Amino acid sequence: MSALNLVPLPVSVDLIGTPPFALDDKVVIVADPAATEVAEVAAKVLSQTTGLTLPVASTSEGGDNAREIRLVLPPQGAVDEGALDMSDEAYRLEVTSDLVTLSATTPRGLNWALATLRQMVTPGEDGGWVIPAALVEDVPRFPWRGLSMDVVRSFYTVDEVKTVVDLLATYKMNTLHLHLTDDQGWRLEIPGREALTEISGVTAGAGGDAGFYTVEDFADIQHYAAARGVTVVPEFDLPGHTNAATHVYGELTPSGEPTPAYDGAKVGFSKLYPDLPATEPFLRDVINSMAEQTVGPYIHIGGDEALEMDLGNYNELVTMAEKIARETGKRPVAWQEAAGAGLPGNMIYQFWDPRLTREDMAKAVSEGGQLLLSPANHVYFDMQYDADTPHGQDWSGYVELRDSYEWDPGTQVEGVPEEDVVGVEATVWTEYIHGFDAMTYMLLPRLAAAAEVGWSARRALEWESFAGRIAPESAWWNAMGVNWHRSPGVDWK
Ligand code: ACM
Repeated sequence: MSALNLVPLPVSVDLIGTPPFALDDKVVIVADPAATEVAEVAAKVLSQTTGLTLPVASTSEGGDNAREIRLVLPPQGAVDEGALDMSDEAYRLEVTSDLVTLSATTPRGLNWALATLRQMVTPGEDGGWVIPAALVEDVPRFPWRGLSMDVVRSFYTVDEVKTVVDLLATYKMNTLHLHLTDDQGWRLEIPGREALTEISGVTAGAGGDAGFYTVEDFADIQHYAAARGVTVVPEFDLPGHTNAATHVYGELTPSGEPTPAYDGAKVGFSKLYPDLPATEPFLRDVINSMAEQTVGPYIHIGGDEALEMDLGNYNELVTMAEKIARETGKRPVAWQEAAGAGLPGNMIYQFWDPRLTREDMAKAVSEGGQLLLSPANHVYFDMQYDADTPHGQDWSGYVELRDSYEWDPGTQVEGVPEEDVVGVEATVWTEYIHGFDAMTYMLLPRLAAAAEVGWSARRALEWESFAGRIAPESAWWNAMGVNWHRSPGVDWK
């Protein structure tokens, strides 16, 4: 056990025992050219933590009294995100009395070193700030640690999404999955199909906000996220959850009439029809545009809860979507129901509903697929904490912080070994979560638990340890100005 309060718990922490590094306004952040963007993020995060404004420089000033925070990358530093290579995320953080060195093979790894550094900054005895002398070496257990955010039932602004990105990066979570289309609205501009956002961008679930991201907004979110080590995965949910599309295009329905707008919270009633001539061109236009707009290597094609569809039609449409997505060069991801559709290997299936059978997933994995784990009873953050929670729902039971923490991604699906699990993704569905205060209240503190489950070695997962280390994080949430829930069992500061 380390004496530092770090979440997620690193692989190795050695306290060096020499005097701490004094963090004051004479400290300079010195970054390799390829690390300049991370250095700017570091200046911002450390300013938010301490109130200090630290300059960023590209070369060391030297001199006997110089105290520096150095960001170091190897000269090559190339990232192949599609390879899901965890060593791309490894980092080393060394703190001595006069030098802090963050090193990694990629800017993403440097962001994770920064996340650790931020948690090590503590008030000094004489009023300033100090960082204890230590060596931290770290690498994640799973390569995918993320959050799926429903921006359809209730829309969240670009700035709000950026704050969620800040929270993800804080806990070394590398993926933001945006659920952009559903029955109640359409949230991403599709050039050539502007009617989608003109008509379904102004609708939402009852009580939720409406809106949509322009092409420029989506690029802006992705750029902000990338600078913080976070990849954005867009989702076009089909063939169910498609009322916002059929509300715009009557040609997607057998009657030729558009369906009415829907602001309720029922699921499973909407569908697409593989035999209608407009269907495939529609899928092609949307998937191609999403792929073109997306920097990262993945595209999510939905596949959940097509409850009123004939299975043959369902399989045909999911197969069509998978093929179109694959042709864009992106790797497709789908909810667990698609595991029964006989898709080609190399899909990532997202396990979410513990009530459904897991046999299809085990079979799909044995044929080359992989699993992303979002078990609702642990990491669905729209689940209420308890009977008094003013937001969210409870179909998978109450989910307190401890429930989000105490589970093992290595053993969730019988017949699927740990090496076929890409990682952990929490979700937050917004039928009953309205406004950003409600959003962060549902995310915090559970997001940190999901992050540790995805990052830290299995042997390290002990609730008492986590409860002790998470307590001081409330000061950071307060500094960020975000609302959070006082989960029981933690001695919150
Ligand atoms: C889901 O919760 N329908 C994936």
